Amino acid sequence: MLLFREKIPANWLPKILVNLPAVLIDHAHLERKAATTALNLEKYHDLYPRVEQLNAIAIEELQHFQLVLDLLKRRGIPFGRPHPSPWISGLMKSVRNGQRHQVIDHLLCCSLIEGRSCEKFQILARELEPIDPGLAKFYASLVESEGNHYATYLLMARGIDHVETDRRLDFYLDVEAQLMRQPNPFPMLH
Ligand SMILES: [Fe+2]
Ligand SMILES: [Fe+2]
Repeated sequence: MLLFREKIPANWLPKILVNLPAVLIDHAHLERKAATTALNLEKYHDLYPRVEQLNAIAIEELQHFQLVLDLLKRRGIPFGRPHPSPWISGLMKSVRNGQRHQVIDHLLCCSLIEGRSCEKFQILARELEPIDPGLAKFYASLVESEGNHYATYLLMARGIDHVETDRRLDFYLDVEAQLMRQPNPFPMLH
């Protein structure tokens, strides 16, 4: 994604490629959380007019969750517990309280998470091609959807307050870059 101010660390991809079963379990939870997050956003007054759009995202994420569960089953990988992501909790920690501030920050965090997913799925689609073509195809099939979620959440925030959104986006891009530089030993997407 063009917006990001830090590259994905060089050790991310090798760690993912040698731990694909654990990564798929982490991915399943990521999609599950994406579905519940879309529903959670419906609690904000400023997003009441967007409730159907958010439902559509929740349904799509739930379908992604099911697709990853199907993959786990086909590969004989039991569904397991997720590792908490310091990158995601680091972003969410900066969400301010107060109606308008909170919804804008929450949407920006969602947008950045979706944006990084889109970027990483693109990398996986390319890098898995010679190793695991079926999985490469699967990741390629998710890229467009996650890219749309990234844009949708950003546009929703700008629809509430464009100036404040871009001001906070600048702040969040710095936070995100800092978090990206923190080492994470676990085989996780984020
Ligand atoms: Fe998804
Ligand atoms: Fe998504």
